[in-house]
Amino acid sequence: MLKTADNNEKHLLFGGCDTVALAKKYGTPLYVISEEHIRERCREIQRDFLLKYNRTKAFYASKAFLTMKMCRIISEEGLGLDVVSGGELFTAIKAGFPMEDVIFHGNNKSLEEIELALSNDVGRIAVDNLDELAMIQEAAERLDKKTKILFRISPGIEAGDTHEYIFTGHKDSKFGIPLEQNIIKKAIADVMNSSHMEFMGFHFHVGSQLFRYDSHVAAVHVLIRLMEYIKNEMGVSTQELNIGGGFGIRYVEEDESKPLSFFVDAIMESIIQGCENANIDVPLIMIEPGRWIVGEAGITLYTIGSIKEIPGIRTYISVDGGMPDNPRPALYQAKYRAVVANKMGQELEKQVTVAGKCCESGDILIENIKLPKIESGDILAVFSTGAYNYSMSSNYNRLPRPAVVLVNSGNDELMVKRESYEDLIRNEMF
Ligand code: LLP
Repeated sequence: MLKTADNNEKHLLFGGCDTVALAKKYGTPLYVISEEHIRERCREIQRDFLLKYNRTKAFYASKAFLTMKMCRIISEEGLGLDVVSGGELFTAIKAGFPMEDVIFHGNNKSLEEIELALSNDVGRIAVDNLDELAMIQEAAERLDKKTKILFRISPGIEAGDTHEYIFTGHKDSKFGIPLEQNIIKKAIADVMNSSHMEFMGFHFHVGSQLFRYDSHVAAVHVLIRLMEYIKNEMGVSTQELNIGGGFGIRYVEEDESKPLSFFVDAIMESIIQGCENANIDVPLIMIEPGRWIVGEAGITLYTIGSIKEIPGIRTYISVDGGMPDNPRPALYQAKYRAVVANKMGQELEKQVTVAGKCCESGDILIENIKLPKIESGDILAVFSTGAYNYSMSSNYNRLPRPAVVLVNSGNDELMVKRESYEDLIRNEMF
């Protein structure tokens, strides 16, 4: 599966580029993103969701990875954008992303963010709570704007092996409106009574990095009961249902890279069947994957520095990045796979542990991985770092953020330049 360069040097190729040459050209740590991979995933969404099912829309969850260039790729591929903050929205505005294709999420939108969304005519606001709704109503009236509203519902589904259907009563979640009939009825009535808001439907998001579709299907059942209820009680029909993202990707050998159809076919079947049983029209269905689109499109290149063998215990190899560029192992015990980019095809010699360079014992990127004989200066390539790495990076220990390079069919282009030490003190006033 892994491609190596033809130059006999056995270098890892990514996006048609020699990764060792990329490390040399741009320095390390380096995020490398494959444009081709992103576009392929978007085309799979077109083929297996948008064209396969009537009345569907797909949005890219930009929290996974966002730059202005990424906005342009997503827009060219015919997807919309899910943003969760003024900063993400600003990036989309600056990229010239069509605002009617933007959904604005978030559980604590500020008035300033709401005003930015309204004045730029974003396509939809996914409202999380009644305080926010009141703010939108007031701001929309003041700015003389009309906006489309989805309500984020907390469907009380555990994303995992267990799931429950609860129509009244809700699970403990900071996201969304709890499944309380009276609260939801009031929220819808408030929108219906406003000349500045239009009720479109509901949204839910059950979790992330899921390898099964059960939780989506369980949430769909809850939402269909809700749609049925508001139709019967209020005579209001739901035009749109946004089922969120969460489709899992491959991080380690054992993970299976699932096609989109694995998730959406089962979910669509449950929606179509459920709506028929409930005697309601199938709403327009929206999905908003982030990780599934960009996760496997990214790798991170590091230079290996010190190698420390603790006899009888383990060998640590340290890289020039770590938790500031990839906080996921420290935060979620996330697992990654990696290769030595300049020693492809060499026999795997022994098990080592890959440590980051932060003053923090939890800064371990990969525990126990078999690699070829390591020497200082080797280039380590860690896979599946496209999602929630650059977007979650920090300057902890005052490490400048790495550069991001976009590769495509053997061409490389600097998408985000490496931060400098000067950048680290840029906002300091004295
Ligand atoms: N829609 C909503 C409303 C979301 O909250 C999220 C993710 C998504 C879509 C996209 O989920 P995805 O398809 O990427 O799984 N930092 C964590 C992931 C947090 C995801 C939060 N919400 C990580 O690194 O694993």
